[in-house]
Amino acid sequence: MNNFYSVQDVDNLDQLIQTAQSMKAHPLKHKDIGAGKLLVLLFFNPSLRTKLSTQKAALNLGMQVISMDMKDSWAWEFEDGVTMKFDKAEHIKEAANIICRYADIVAIRSFPSLKNKEDDYKDQVIKSFIKYSSKPVISLESTIRHPLQSCADLMTIKENCKTAQPKIVLSWAPHPKALPQAVSNSFLEWMNAAGHNVTVTHPKGYELDNEFMTGHKVEYDQEEAFKEADIIYVKNWSPLSAYGEVVSQDENWMITKEKLSKTNNAKLMHCLPVRRNVVISDDAMDSDHSAIYDLAENRLHTAQAVIYQILQNSSH
Ligand code: CP
Repeated sequence: MNNFYSVQDVDNLDQLIQTAQSMKAHPLKHKDIGAGKLLVLLFFNPSLRTKLSTQKAALNLGMQVISMDMKDSWAWEFEDGVTMKFDKAEHIKEAANIICRYADIVAIRSFPSLKNKEDDYKDQVIKSFIKYSSKPVISLESTIRHPLQSCADLMTIKENCKTAQPKIVLSWAPHPKALPQAVSNSFLEWMNAAGHNVTVTHPKGYELDNEFMTGHKVEYDQEEAFKEADIIYVKNWSPLSAYGEVVSQDENWMITKEKLSKTNNAKLMHCLPVRRNVVISDDAMDSDHSAIYDLAENRLHTAQAVIYQILQNSSH
């Protein structure tokens, strides 16, 4: 693996998950592979899990780590041929070139503006960085995908489902703010690559981009979708049609323990952060259904597997 931007960058999905399982069992087994190498993390947006798990993963592999809040840096220009007279002080060309002289791997988080779908879906920050980078680039969540999250999602499903074809449901839930589609898009892309069909349930008007719906189906009735489910993956996303708006805050879509009791004893998953008693009720969050903390832990092991494979690739 060179870059880690989407599931297409993974040579062998089973092998990646096996590597993550091996990292979970023996976290320091490869503690020398990254010696003398530097991971630079660039955060254009907040993070708790991604920031800590990716740093710890690199440290477990012997790398050094520098994490940068991009609010402390110059504003970047991404367009070519622009006369830079306004607020953008540095072109991505210079920034990427220089960062790659310091770093051995660069990791970037950049959320969408949620103002213009066409612009957001160009995924400009990370794609521009990859274009000008001479070093491997890891997405820490881009405007439309969150591959590190999805990798941990897949590992957690494999740990919790012993059947080859579990019923996996992705359920929309209410939220007071407009949120990106990245986690849901990426989840669907990874499940498709792993051979899983997902039942996606949401209010009408919240359809996800067709590009990510390949192999999956929509069931607008949440109660119907939950029947016989083995996995309930919960996420809010804002609609594509009324882009960046909050169209529904229907509390009837909140995930509760009672709803989970009508599944096939499903495991409850959410990427976090989660607003309790808005997205998921306390009684569901704190129930035996929850695999939410295990999922967050798996962010560490899967990030370590990704960095390990990139280090292996760059040493050839
Ligand atoms: N799930 C996730 O990416 O968490 P953070 O936003 O805290 O990194």
